[in-house]
Amino acid sequence: MSAKLNKKRKLVVLISGSGSNLQALIDACSDDEVNAEIVAVLSNIADAKGLQRASAVGITTKVVSHRDYRDRQAFDQQLAAVITPFNPDLVVLAGFMRILTPTFVDQFMGKMVNIHPSLLPKYAGLDTHQRAIDAGDKIAGATVHFVTPELDGGPPILRGEVDISNRDTAASLASKVLSVEHKIFPLAIRWFCQNRLRLVSDKVILDGDELGENGLLYNNH
Ligand code: GRF
Repeated sequence: MSAKLNKKRKLVVLISGSGSNLQALIDACSDDEVNAEIVAVLSNIADAKGLQRASAVGITTKVVSHRDYRDRQAFDQQLAAVITPFNPDLVVLAGFMRILTPTFVDQFMGKMVNIHPSLLPKYAGLDTHQRAIDAGDKIAGATVHFVTPELDGGPPILRGEVDISNRDTAASLASKVLSVEHKIFPLAIRWFCQNRLRLVSDKVILDGDELGENGLLYNNH
Protein backbone atom coordinates (compact mmCIF):
# COMPACT_ATOMS: atom_id res chain seq x y z
CA MET A 1 0.00 0.00 0.00
CA SER A 2 1.34 3.46 -0.86
CA ALA A 3 2.18 5.89 1.95
CA LYS A 4 -0.69 8.14 0.86
CA LEU A 5 -3.28 5.36 1.02
CA ASN A 6 -1.88 4.17 4.30
CA LYS A 7 -2.34 7.53 5.99
CA LYS A 8 -5.12 7.42 8.56
CA ARG A 9 -8.12 9.55 7.67
CA LYS A 10 -9.44 11.98 10.25
CA LEU A 11 -13.03 11.62 11.39
CA VAL A 12 -15.12 14.02 13.44
CA VAL A 13 -18.22 12.31 14.83
CA LEU A 14 -21.39 14.18 15.85
CA ILE A 15 -23.77 12.54 18.30
CA SER A 16 -26.75 13.36 20.48
CA GLY A 17 -27.36 10.17 22.40
CA SER A 18 -26.18 6.73 23.38
CA GLY A 19 -23.43 6.57 20.79
CA SER A 20 -23.68 2.86 20.01
CA ASN A 21 -22.81 3.64 16.38
CA LEU A 22 -19.90 5.74 17.62
CA GLN A 23 -18.77 2.72 19.66
CA ALA A 24 -18.93 0.47 16.59
CA LEU A 25 -16.74 3.00 14.78
CA ILE A 26 -14.30 3.34 17.69
CA ASP A 27 -13.94 -0.46 17.68
CA ALA A 28 -13.55 -0.63 13.90
CA CYS A 29 -10.82 2.06 13.98
CA SER A 30 -8.96 0.38 16.81
CA ASP A 31 -9.12 -2.99 15.01
CA ASP A 32 -7.78 -1.27 11.87
CA GLU A 33 -10.90 -2.33 9.97
CA VAL A 34 -11.33 1.36 9.26
CA ASN A 35 -8.13 3.20 8.41
CA ALA A 36 -9.02 6.30 10.41
CA GLU A 37 -8.62 8.13 13.64
CA ILE A 38 -11.58 9.73 15.39
CA VAL A 39 -10.07 13.13 16.17
CA ALA A 40 -13.09 14.54 17.99
CA VAL A 41 -16.61 13.72 19.10
CA LEU A 42 -19.06 16.61 19.30
CA SER A 43 -22.46 16.63 20.89
CA ASN A 44 -25.28 19.13 21.24
CA ILE A 45 -26.29 17.33 24.46
CA ALA A 46 -23.91 17.73 27.40
CA ASP A 47 -24.78 14.42 29.07
CA ALA A 48 -24.98 12.27 25.93
CA LYS A 49 -23.70 8.82 26.87
CA GLY A 50 -21.62 8.69 23.71
CA LEU A 51 -19.35 11.42 25.12
CA GLN A 52 -18.34 9.03 27.91
CA ARG A 53 -17.60 6.32 25.36
CA ALA A 54 -15.26 8.75 23.58
CA SER A 55 -13.55 10.03 26.75
CA ALA A 56 -13.04 6.45 27.94
CA VAL A 57 -10.67 5.88 24.99
CA GLY A 58 -9.04 9.31 25.12
CA ILE A 59 -10.89 10.96 22.21
CA THR A 60 -11.34 14.75 22.48
CA THR A 61 -14.95 15.70 23.15
CA LYS A 62 -16.73 19.04 22.72
CA VAL A 63 -20.24 20.15 23.54
CA VAL A 64 -22.03 22.78 21.48
CA SER A 65 -25.50 23.12 22.99
CA HIS A 66 -28.16 24.28 20.54
CA ARG A 67 -29.88 25.95 23.51
CA ASP A 68 -27.09 28.51 23.68
CA TYR A 69 -27.81 29.88 20.18
CA ARG A 70 -30.64 32.09 18.99
CA ASP A 71 -31.36 30.09 15.83
CA ARG A 72 -30.18 27.19 13.66
CA GLN A 73 -27.92 29.45 11.63
CA ALA A 74 -26.00 30.64 14.69
CA PHE A 75 -25.75 27.12 16.13
CA ASP A 76 -24.50 25.68 12.85
CA GLN A 77 -21.96 28.49 12.49
CA GLN A 78 -20.50 27.59 15.87
CA LEU A 79 -20.61 23.89 15.04
CA ALA A 80 -18.62 24.50 11.86
CA ALA A 81 -16.18 26.71 13.78
CA VAL A 82 -15.53 23.88 16.22
CA ILE A 83 -15.23 21.18 13.52
CA THR A 84 -13.02 23.02 11.00
CA PRO A 85 -9.79 23.21 13.07
CA PHE A 86 -9.81 19.40 13.31
CA ASN A 87 -9.52 19.36 9.52
CA PRO A 88 -11.58 16.18 9.11
CA ASP A 89 -11.60 14.06 5.97
CA LEU A 90 -15.10 12.97 6.91
CA VAL A 91 -17.80 14.25 9.26
CA VAL A 92 -19.89 11.38 10.62
CA LEU A 93 -23.43 12.00 11.86
CA ALA A 94 -24.01 9.11 14.26
CA GLY A 95 -27.37 9.81 15.84
CA PHE A 96 -27.01 13.59 15.67
CA MET A 97 -30.55 14.81 16.23
CA ARG A 98 -30.40 18.32 14.80
CA ILE A 99 -31.56 19.47 11.39
CA LEU A 100 -28.59 21.13 9.69
CA THR A 101 -28.83 24.30 7.60
CA PRO A 102 -27.92 24.22 3.89
CA THR A 103 -25.01 26.59 4.59
CA PHE A 104 -23.51 24.09 7.02
CA VAL A 105 -24.16 21.09 4.77
CA ASP A 106 -22.61 22.83 1.76
CA GLN A 107 -19.33 23.25 3.66
CA PHE A 108 -19.02 19.48 4.05
CA MET A 109 -20.64 18.29 0.80
CA GLY A 110 -19.25 14.88 -0.17
CA LYS A 111 -17.45 14.75 3.18
CA MET A 112 -20.36 14.05 5.50
CA VAL A 113 -22.33 10.83 6.02
CA ASN A 114 -25.36 9.97 8.14
CA ILE A 115 -27.05 6.79 9.28
CA HIS A 116 -30.82 6.73 9.28
CA PRO A 117 -32.90 3.93 10.87
CA SER A 118 -35.14 3.14 7.90
CA LEU A 119 -34.87 1.93 4.35
CA LEU A 120 -34.81 5.34 2.71
CA PRO A 121 -36.62 6.92 0.93
CA LYS A 122 -39.24 5.39 3.27
CA TYR A 123 -39.68 7.08 6.63
CA ALA A 124 -37.38 10.08 6.65
CA GLY A 125 -37.57 11.92 9.97
CA LEU A 126 -38.57 10.46 13.33
CA ASP A 127 -40.48 7.40 14.67
CA THR A 128 -39.27 5.25 11.80
CA HIS A 129 -39.82 1.90 13.52
CA GLN A 130 -43.38 2.56 14.64
CA ARG A 131 -44.21 3.89 11.19
CA ALA A 132 -42.86 0.72 9.55
CA ILE A 133 -44.89 -1.48 11.94
CA ASP A 134 -48.06 0.60 11.48
CA ALA A 135 -47.69 0.33 7.70
CA GLY A 136 -47.58 -3.48 7.97
CA ASP A 137 -44.08 -3.63 6.45
CA LYS A 138 -42.34 -7.00 6.58
CA ILE A 139 -38.84 -5.58 6.23
CA ALA A 140 -37.16 -2.67 7.98
CA GLY A 141 -33.58 -1.52 8.11
CA ALA A 142 -31.12 1.32 8.04
CA THR A 143 -29.45 3.41 5.36
CA VAL A 144 -26.05 5.09 5.25
CA HIS A 145 -26.11 8.10 2.95
CA PHE A 146 -24.17 11.19 1.99
CA VAL A 147 -25.66 14.28 3.56
CA THR A 148 -27.27 16.90 1.36
CA PRO A 149 -29.48 19.80 2.47
CA GLU A 150 -32.66 17.71 2.16
CA LEU A 151 -33.35 15.97 5.50
CA ASP A 152 -32.48 12.25 5.18
CA GLY A 153 -32.61 12.78 1.43
CA GLY A 154 -28.96 12.49 0.38
CA PRO A 155 -27.82 9.74 -1.99
CA PRO A 156 -27.82 6.29 -0.31
CA ILE A 157 -24.56 4.34 -0.05
CA LEU A 158 -25.43 1.16 1.81
CA ARG A 159 -28.54 -0.25 3.43
CA GLY A 160 -29.06 -3.20 5.72
CA GLU A 161 -32.33 -5.02 6.14
CA VAL A 162 -33.99 -6.89 9.01
CA ASP A 163 -37.24 -8.85 9.10
CA ILE A 164 -40.17 -7.43 11.05
CA SER A 165 -41.97 -10.15 13.00
CA ASN A 166 -45.55 -9.77 14.13
CA ARG A 167 -44.32 -9.67 17.72
CA ASP A 168 -42.04 -6.69 17.10
CA THR A 169 -42.56 -3.45 18.97
CA ALA A 170 -40.86 -0.19 18.02
CA ALA A 171 -38.27 -0.94 20.75
CA SER A 172 -37.51 -4.50 19.66
CA LEU A 173 -37.30 -3.41 16.04
CA ALA A 174 -34.99 -0.51 16.95
CA SER A 175 -32.64 -2.94 18.63
CA LYS A 176 -32.60 -5.31 15.63
CA VAL A 177 -31.98 -2.38 13.28
CA LEU A 178 -29.20 -1.02 15.50
CA SER A 179 -27.29 -4.26 15.21
CA VAL A 180 -27.30 -3.96 11.41
CA GLU A 181 -26.38 -0.25 11.71
CA HIS A 182 -23.25 -1.28 13.61
CA LYS A 183 -22.17 -3.31 10.58
CA ILE A 184 -23.08 -1.06 7.69
CA PHE A 185 -21.89 2.27 9.08
CA PRO A 186 -18.28 1.23 9.73
CA LEU A 187 -18.23 -0.61 6.39
CA ALA A 188 -19.28 2.45 4.37
CA ILE A 189 -16.79 4.59 6.30
CA ARG A 190 -14.10 1.99 5.63
CA TRP A 191 -14.72 2.36 1.88
CA PHE A 192 -14.56 6.14 2.13
CA CYS A 193 -11.27 5.96 4.02
CA GLN A 194 -9.88 3.63 1.36
CA ASN A 195 -10.70 6.27 -1.28
CA ARG A 196 -13.11 3.82 -2.89
CA LEU A 197 -16.26 5.82 -2.19
CA ARG A 198 -17.14 9.34 -3.22
CA LEU A 199 -19.95 11.65 -4.13
CA VAL A 200 -19.78 13.17 -7.61
CA SER A 201 -22.52 15.79 -8.01
CA ASP A 202 -25.49 13.75 -6.74
CA LYS A 203 -24.15 10.30 -7.65
CA VAL A 204 -22.44 7.82 -5.34
CA ILE A 205 -19.39 6.20 -6.88
CA LEU A 206 -17.92 3.02 -5.40
CA ASP A 207 -14.81 1.53 -7.01
CA GLY A 208 -15.42 3.66 -10.09
CA ASP A 209 -19.01 2.49 -10.60
CA GLU A 210 -22.11 4.56 -10.01
CA LEU A 211 -24.44 3.01 -7.43
CA GLY A 212 -28.18 2.79 -8.10
CA GLU A 213 -30.60 5.14 -6.41
CA ASN A 214 -30.95 2.90 -3.33
CA GLY A 215 -27.23 2.31 -2.87
CA LEU A 216 -25.94 -1.19 -2.15
CA LEU A 217 -27.73 -3.82 -0.10
CA TYR A 218 -25.58 -5.23 2.69
CA ASN A 219 -25.36 -8.97 2.60
CA ASN A 220 -25.64 -10.22 6.15
CA HIS A 221 -24.60 -13.76 5.35
C1 GRF B 1 -29.58 5.28 15.36
O1 GRF B 1 -30.74 4.49 15.23
C2 GRF B 1 -29.34 6.08 14.11
O2 GRF B 1 -29.75 5.43 12.95
C3 GRF B 1 -30.19 7.30 14.35
O3 GRF B 1 -30.05 7.57 15.70
C4 GRF B 1 -29.74 6.37 16.41
C5 GRF B 1 -28.48 6.62 17.16
O4 GRF B 1 -28.17 5.55 18.01
N1 GRF B 1 -29.80 8.38 13.46
P1 GRF B 1 -26.76 5.54 18.77
O5 GRF B 1 -26.66 6.87 19.51
O6 GRF B 1 -25.69 5.38 17.74
O7 GRF B 1 -26.85 4.38 19.72
